Amino acid sequence: QRELLSLSKAYEDLFLIGAAVNHYTIDSELSLLEKHFNSLTAENEMKFEHIQPKENQFQFEYVDKLVSYSERYGHQLRGHTLVWHNQTSDWIFKAPEGKEMNRDLLLERMKSHIMTLLKRYKGKFYSWDVVNEAISDQKGEFLRSSPWLDIIGEDFIDYAFRYAHEADPEAALFYNDYNECDPEKRDKIYTLVKDMLEKDVPIHGIGLQAHWNIHDPSMDHIRAAIEKYASLGLQLQITEMDVSMFQFEDKRMDLLKPTNEMLEKQAERYEQFFKLFKEYHQHITSVTFWGVSDKYTWLHDFPVRGRRNWPFLFDENNQTKEAYWRVIDQV
Ligand code: XIL
Repeated sequence: QRELLSLSKAYEDLFLIGAAVNHYTIDSELSLLEKHFNSLTAENEMKFEHIQPKENQFQFEYVDKLVSYSERYGHQLRGHTLVWHNQTSDWIFKAPEGKEMNRDLLLERMKSHIMTLLKRYKGKFYSWDVVNEAISDQKGEFLRSSPWLDIIGEDFIDYAFRYAHEADPEAALFYNDYNECDPEKRDKIYTLVKDMLEKDVPIHGIGLQAHWNIHDPSMDHIRAAIEKYASLGLQLQITEMDVSMFQFEDKRMDLLKPTNEMLEKQAERYEQFFKLFKEYHQHITSVTFWGVSDKYTWLHDFPVRGRRNWPFLFDENNQTKEAYWRVIDQV
C-alpha cells in the first residue's frame, strides 16, 4: 500500500494543479479538492449567460462563494471566460427597440461586462481567459464566424484584452482554445497572438484546453505546439484537461465501465503528458483538469449524449486510478 500523496504538493515547485468545479462538485468533492488541487476554475458559472443574463443585472453570488471558498481552502483562481461565442446571452447582440445593432454599441457592452468583472474581482484571480475559441477549425478560415466578429470586426479580440488590462493592470490575460495541437490551428493561434504582441495588445498567456483522448493528439504534435507557443515568451497554462477513452468520431455507447486496456493506455498517456509538462515547467504555470473525478464530467454528455466516460485521475468512487500513480511518479 503506497502513501497517497497530494498532487498539488507533489507539483508545488513546478506549476499549480487545478480543477474545474460547478455549484454541485464544489461541495460534493471537497475532500479531493482540498487534498489534491490548489487552483479552481468555474466550469460554467462565470460565463456570460450566468454572470449577466440581462443587461446590467449581474449575478455574483456563485463567484463570491467561489472566492470565499478558495480563500478558506487555499486555492488560487482562474477566471473563465469573458468573450466567447457560446453560453453568451442573446441580449448583448440585439439592438434596443427602434435601433440598429452596431460595432460601437457592442464594444460598449463588452467593455462594461469586462470592466465590471475585473474590477470587482481585482487581485482575486491569477489569470483570466479573456477571449475563448475565436480561431476557426476550418481550413483556410482564420477567425470563427460569430456575432462578435460579424458585428465588431476582427479587432474585437484586441479590444477585449485592452479593456481587461485597463480594469486590472496586474491581471494575467489569456487567449484560450481547443484543437490547439493540430498543426494548422496551432499556426493560426500562434499568428493571432504574435500579431497582438506586435501591436502591443496586453496579452500574457496562451491557454491550451487539452481536451485530448487516449489516442490523439500525438506526443509529437503536443510537443510541437508547446514549443511554438513557448517561443512567444508568454506563460502557458493547460486549462481544461481531460483524456477521453474515445476518439472524437467514435460514437460507441455500450461500455458501462472502462476496459483494463483503456485504463492502461490512459495511464501511459498521462505519464507522457506530465513528463512533457515538467520539461516545459518554466513556461507552464498551471495544469487544470476539466473536473475532479470520473463521477462527473461534461464528457458524460459530449459529444455523445448519455455515454459515460472516464477522463480523470480519480475514478467514479473518487479512488486513485493507475493514471494518478504515473503522474505522481513523474516528480
Ligand atoms: C463546457 C462545460 O463543461 C459544460 O458543462 C457546458 O455545458 C458546456 O461548456 N471549452 C470551454 C469550456 O472553454 O467552457 C467548455 O465547458 C468545454 C469546451
